[in-house]
Amino acid sequence: MRQGRFEQPANETAQLYSESVSIDWRLYAHDIRGSLAHAAALAVAGILTKEEHEQIEAGLTVIEAEIAAGEFRWERALEDVHMNIESALTKRIGAAGAKLHTARSRNDQVALDLRLYVKAEAAEVCARLRALQRVLLDLAERHQKALMPGYTHLQRAQPISLAHYFLAQIEALERDYSRVFAGAERADVMPLGSGAIAGSTIVLDRELIARQLGFSKLSQNSLDAVSDRDFACEFLFALAMIGLHLSRFSEDLILWSTSEFGFITFSDAFSTGSSLMPQKKNPDMAELTRGKSGRLYGNLIALLTTMKGLPASYNRDLQEDKRPLFDSVDTVREALDVFAAMLPEVTVNSARMEEAATDPNLLATDLAEYLVKKGMPFREAHEAVGKLVARAAAVSIPLDQISRDERQKTSPLLDDDVAAVFDARHSLAQRTAMGAPSPENVAAQIARWRAFL
Ligand code: ARG
Repeated sequence: MRQGRFEQPANETAQLYSESVSIDWRLYAHDIRGSLAHAAALAVAGILTKEEHEQIEAGLTVIEAEIAAGEFRWERALEDVHMNIESALTKRIGAAGAKLHTARSRNDQVALDLRLYVKAEAAEVCARLRALQRVLLDLAERHQKALMPGYTHLQRAQPISLAHYFLAQIEALERDYSRVFAGAERADVMPLGSGAIAGSTIVLDRELIARQLGFSKLSQNSLDAVSDRDFACEFLFALAMIGLHLSRFSEDLILWSTSEFGFITFSDAFSTGSSLMPQKKNPDMAELTRGKSGRLYGNLIALLTTMKGLPASYNRDLQEDKRPLFDSVDTVREALDVFAAMLPEVTVNSARMEEAATDPNLLATDLAEYLVKKGMPFREAHEAVGKLVARAAAVSIPLDQISRDERQKTSPLLDDDVAAVFDARHSLAQRTAMGAPSPENVAAQIARWRAFL
């Protein structure tokens, strides 16, 4: 590439600084697919003879096999995956190889490779999201009867079922799925033919190339096509959101696994010990997932920041897109795999959960609503029950043990039938609005997800 224009060889430090093959070699399969489609279009346009085209196809196939087998020698002096493969091809088949880059620039080539990569990895991430949703659905099904305290502000709030909690995670992952899926549509635009910035005087059949590579759209502006990394930013955002969801989920699991909560126990296989304290069993998988979310956000911010100052068109800064992208994809794939494997082995201590969920204070709102049903305005009911809660706390008795006298003093509407209010399962059964956690609703949601997943 330097032959011709340059008199001096590249400075070695500069070469090491600017090479990307140590990272972008991972795009090789996409790069070769792109080159095969490009070669086919060159043949149709009469730039390559049938024989040359066949030589290129055969050469690229051998090179791909070599790379896959770990037998390919990547040269950092050749900068990137594109130059490495093209140079190996020309070494192998001679003149025909030297024709491959006709009407193509690395600017549209790298845009193509990256789009193929994002499309393929989006499918991988989507499959893993679905797999984790199925694991969560099994758990929801298994724990429909398990009462647990729902928390707001991390204070006990109202009873829900553990199934309702797992279904909530499935909802969040569904939004992730649709985000990744929609992002993949944005990546589904074929940029080849844009050249370095202004296309080429040699006009190839772009439709043909797109069809061969499974793209449904062609880029409509060559300048935009070599500038655009929106699809990579969007993918990084979708991956960061998955990280956020898994991080919050991790936080719940970590808390629940403490002696203080005692709601769940991780299996030994997914726990780690302490190098010092023999008794320790630590929830490291969940902690690491919570921790890795920071890097997922960092990767998004890294690319957004790289992009923001760039003049239109390709600038070498864009080479910095790959490290964060690859890292986020790897991280999220691994995290989803770990969660799908770890969750089925979690033991639920439902007795302990139920004990916490049947704290009568969790039904204080139900008691206020009991008064509302008897005609009291909600604000008054809220105050009356608040007084009862304070009174119960002052004399250290549970809310449902307040004496009849005390109740009647607070409000004559508080009859003996309040006893029925202090039944968590009864409370849950009444929560029948769409989305609320009555057992019938939860069962219907499980059936809906079962049919869908
Ligand atoms: N290694 C480069 C990248 O990743 C490929 C494109 C190089 N284009 C160029 N004009 N130097 O962005």
